[in-house]
Amino acid sequence: MFNDLVNQDELYYEALKYYANILTPFNKQVTKKIAEILALNLPVAMIRPSHGIIWRQNPLQIVERYQQWAQNYQENQITIVYDTMWNGTRKMAEAIAAGIQEADSQVQVKLFNSARTDKNDILSEVFKAKGILVGSPTVNRGVLSSVGRFLEEIRGLSFKEKKAAAFGTYGWSGESMATITKGLSEAGFTIATDGLRLLWNPDAESLARCADFGKAFAISCQ
Ligand SMILES: Cc1cc2nc3c(=O)[nH]c(=O)nc-3n(C[C@H](O)[C@H](O)[C@H](O)COP(=O)(O)O)c2cc1C
Repeated sequence: MFNDLVNQDELYYEALKYYANILTPFNKQVTKKIAEILALNLPVAMIRPSHGIIWRQNPLQIVERYQQWAQNYQENQITIVYDTMWNGTRKMAEAIAAGIQEADSQVQVKLFNSARTDKNDILSEVFKAKGILVGSPTVNRGVLSSVGRFLEEIRGLSFKEKKAAAFGTYGWSGESMATITKGLSEAGFTIATDGLRLLWNPDAESLARCADFGKAFAISCQ
């Protein structure tokens, strides 16, 4: 029940998840309201929200975090979100991740399969990222449904000042890359590079192109 009685990493993981998934669209209002309340100069002994933990030890620590999170927060992280049927797009994602890491050994790279990971956890990792890469094979001239759902979720959250690009495999018509790029753009992301689209399951030469694509993206995020 109290902030001083729980594991601090877990507490802040959950607090960030709450902010990322619920409050991101209201960054401006959060900043304004905090300033308004701090200006009252009230002695704050405890913060007891209508839901969530009670902050009784150094209660203003969470207010300071909210101030940071409300400033279009980002860490030195690139998040890759993809789905796949036969692992072609997964192989692309992994080769892209390796390319990013080669270009920039400091940046944290995280990969998520959008059909297998809790969506709120993924959105927390998008919140923390300075750039995201989203991948799907083309399916019936569109994207896999978990990627379609993800694009809808990021559209609603209005993330700002983040770079993005699309990738994926295809068999004949290859619409997924354009669908993802459009979704990212409509969600307010800056499209950093043209996407990467590969025919069928990638071979060694195609995987080398993925690594180059990852390197170029990492550089565009610096
Ligand atoms: C049900 C189904 C629908 C597909 N529809 C399309 C399509 O409309 N256009 C296209 O270019 N490829 C289409 N494909 C081919 C896939 O995009 C291709 O097999 C791709 O390499 C699969 O990627 P993955 O290994 O990441 O699952 C379809 C494949 C399946 C199984």
